[in-house]
Amino acid sequence: MFDNVHDGIPGTAMPAATEGGIGVGMSDEEIWQCYLYQKRGKEGQRGRDRKRHRGKELFYGSAACGTCHMINGKGGRLGPDLSSTGASRSVEY
Ligand code: HEC
Repeated sequence: MFDNVHDGIPGTAMPAATEGGIGVGMSDEEIWQCYLYQKRGKEGQRGRDRKRHRGKELFYGSAACGTCHMINGKGGRLGPDLSSTGASRSVEY
């Protein structure tokens, strides 16, 4: 999932989120924060919750993922709905 966001998915509308991609210039740390937001980690892990909150800000804010993707009914329709992507994909993916 990290690679999909970092490098984009060639031959599809999924752009690279790093510098030179769709221009949002995300850092590796920010990509992981978006990942954690999608992943919906276990409750009660406070450090992790903070990162997920930051991931949500990025998702609908400067990283603009939400213009193409929906999570739990909020967001765009061009890309696949990511509500269950975290649960349905392996960590390696
Ligand atoms: C310009 C529209 C657009 C933007 C912006 C965008 N995506 Fe995508 N994304 C897509 C499309 C289209 C696909 C499906 C590609 C395919 O056909 O496999 C995709 C695929 C994905 C996948 C793979 C889903 C799966 O089920 O395997 C993930 C994860 C993903 N995007 C996350 C993100 C994140 C996180 C961001 C923000 C950093 C983002 N995307 C920004 C259009 C976009």
